[in-house]
Amino acid sequence: MAKFLESYVKSDIKGKTCLELGAGTGLVSIVAWLLGASRVLATDLPGLHTEHVQYNTSINSKRIESERKQAIHDQEEQATMATSSTNSRTRRKRDNLQELHSQDLEVAPLDWSTPSLPESIRFQGPFSYILCSEILYLPQLHRALLKTLTRFSDHNTVVFLLWKQRGLGEERFFEIASRPSTGWKVHYLDKSVLDAEFQEQPYGIAKMTLDVAERGPCA
Ligand SMILES: C[S@@+](CC[C@H](N)C(=O)[O-])C[C@H]1O[C@@H](n2cnc3c(N)ncnc32)[C@H](O)[C@@H]1O
Repeated sequence: MAKFLESYVKSDIKGKTCLELGAGTGLVSIVAWLLGASRVLATDLPGLHTEHVQYNTSINSKRIESERKQAIHDQEEQATMATSSTNSRTRRKRDNLQELHSQDLEVAPLDWSTPSLPESIRFQGPFSYILCSEILYLPQLHRALLKTLTRFSDHNTVVFLLWKQRGLGEERFFEIASRPSTGWKVHYLDKSVLDAEFQEQPYGIAKMTLDVAERGPCA
């Protein structure tokens, strides 16, 4: 999912809000933040799961933030020292380096069975992107997951789901999501959008969008 975002969503994700469900290590959220999303919220089950995401995202975002600050500072120094012709070349490079703020990458507990965020989280959605990597392996939670998606989406939201076909009923999620009463539209993406190593393996990737006009009373 992280590589997919980098290759196909990079230009659009800048300045957008992202919610990750079942974040695990938080890697996907870290990459969304690195790509310039304005606000990223990585979520997982309360307790140890969230603490693990918190640890990973915090340690990485703080380090990356300070490295980025240093890189921008170095470029500015070089630009000051350069001649006017190299100066314009350096400036072009400088424009691509955006400052990153670790506070734009947040972590919160979010259980799909009771999908609400703590009040301390200032932005409660709807999000521009919802990212779901490897979270379809529990069919008993598919309805709760779909409700969670609906809760944090509007008609501008794009949901990306990546899953490994383990024979655990992963695809049944899309049977539920595709029912007209849910209002969701499922678009399966070609496997060629995946990193080469995943194309060889039984992975699937899909995009979902919500058509508000068609949305029924319950998801
Ligand atoms: C297989 S891991 C995937 C982790 C990560 N997204 C990845 O791709 O590496 C599934 C994640 O879903 C989380 N999860 C399972 N049930 C959940 C629920 N009811 N609510 C929220 N998260 C849940 C787990 O804690 C776990 O982090």
